[in-house]
Amino acid sequence: MEFSVKSGSPEKQRSACIVVGVFEPRRLSGVAEQLDQVSEGYLSGLLRRGDLEGKAGQMLLLHHVPNILSERVLLVGCGKERELDERQYKQIIEKTIHTLNETGSMEAVCFLSELHVKGRDTYWKVRQAVEAAQAGLYTFNQLKTRKEEPRRPLRKLVFNVPTRRELPLGERAIQHALAVSKGVTICRDVANMPPNICTPRYLAEQAQSMADQYDNLSFSEVDEAQMAELGMNAYLAVGQGSEHESVLSLLHYQGAAKDVPPVVLVGKGLTFDSGGISIKPSANMDEMKYDMGGAASVLGAMQALAELQLPINVIGAIAGCENMPDGKAYRPGDVLTTMSGQTVEVLNTDAEGRLVLCDVLTYVERFEPEAVVDIATLTGACIVALGHHASGLMSSHNPLAHELLNASEQSGDRAWRLPLWDEYQDALDSPFADMQNLGGRDAGTITAACFLSRFTKKYHWAHLDIAGTAWRSGAKKGATGRPVPMLTQFLLNRADNGQSN
Ligand code: BES
Ligand code: MN
Ligand code: ZN
Repeated sequence: MEFSVKSGSPEKQRSACIVVGVFEPRRLSGVAEQLDQVSEGYLSGLLRRGDLEGKAGQMLLLHHVPNILSERVLLVGCGKERELDERQYKQIIEKTIHTLNETGSMEAVCFLSELHVKGRDTYWKVRQAVEAAQAGLYTFNQLKTRKEEPRRPLRKLVFNVPTRRELPLGERAIQHALAVSKGVTICRDVANMPPNICTPRYLAEQAQSMADQYDNLSFSEVDEAQMAELGMNAYLAVGQGSEHESVLSLLHYQGAAKDVPPVVLVGKGLTFDSGGISIKPSANMDEMKYDMGGAASVLGAMQALAELQLPINVIGAIAGCENMPDGKAYRPGDVLTTMSGQTVEVLNTDAEGRLVLCDVLTYVERFEPEAVVDIATLTGACIVALGHHASGLMSSHNPLAHELLNASEQSGDRAWRLPLWDEYQDALDSPFADMQNLGGRDAGTITAACFLSRFTKKYHWAHLDIAGTAWRSGAKKGATGRPVPMLTQFLLNRADNGQSN
């Protein structure tokens, strides 16, 4: 779909449809008021007769409104004016686009971007509207033999902004939103792909083909033989029971001078996590195809970054691996020597993410990074703590934690910080090795992060546990594309030196 911004008055639009808000109870928004005057009270008459209460998400489609140049007017209920918040705004936009697609309109001019949302400016409203529109149109039907293409006549959506002065802001919002949406889409596509197709090799191919599309993006990989040479024994152990070889894929994005230290994003890429010898129960085990959600989000963020051509250096590391039970599989009781030299006693082969990541976190030291952020569906405990609304954020570096929290706040892609105090480290003490890969029942999300922290002493580091946010279960099962919006915002802010737009 195509998006643009303009600044004009509603009665002058000659469009297939114009979209304006109505508040509860039966109150016209300023823009609707203008239309009402031109149409000699047509809209207020409808409200008086009780055709639209104005409850959030209510829709009323009108044809042939007197004296109006547009073919249709879509009245959209926005709830109580003072209660319009971010969440409601996004829901209203999504519903509006759905409704527009049910009409025959090929294009529409939307005035909802002029609604007042507390603390948010035009940039934010346009950007969120475009992202919500794109996300709402997503389908994954590559693997269906009969593809049901829903009828979607809407081709072009124009957002109106209050003043001409805000047009450049609106245009930038669209550009940023389209880049984020592209990243979100590839993240969802790759994550939704089933584990018999989406293997570590498949992840590498996706990264490779992305690098082929952009001049300043290049691809390299570390295969099992190289991992063995490097001593990445924890990573290798996890993949030992799988027929699919482990592959660490690297995407190098160069937007600044060669000697500018990069930001490194590390994604957990377990293309299937059966638990290994400590096998998981069968219920919902299919969802462990999403255990590569971190890797998918790194792909997504790299895609958005390359679209935006930001003037920074970024390396995306995609830790592809499959965790399976087998005669060759690693087992509880094994002691592994990690690339860092530290030894780990395996108490549970289902705590595999940290074993893969710890070696990659050591590997990326060679890039002398400015900051490293790892993204992982690491612990079920994170869902217990935060549910499905926020990703867990842990960091040993306060400024980096705040940067990420800011990015999360700006993008609407929520994260919540959990502590990483030293007291939690004791849970990893092992009688036989430097540490064990299990921290016990308490604070599982934090002790997993504590484990990782032992491999990140050489740079500023933050960890995002996306176990609860990377995908949805149930009737609407599917990858969400999170936390691509947050990561992209983080990179945008870095490029802009702290400004969001
Ligand atoms: N990939 C899982 C975490 C997970 C589970 C994410 C369910 C989302 C939904 C991870 O590898 C895992 O199995 N973690 C274990 C750790 C435990 C053995 C210490 C868990 O959370 O149960
Ligand atoms: Mn596991
Ligand atoms: Zn896992």
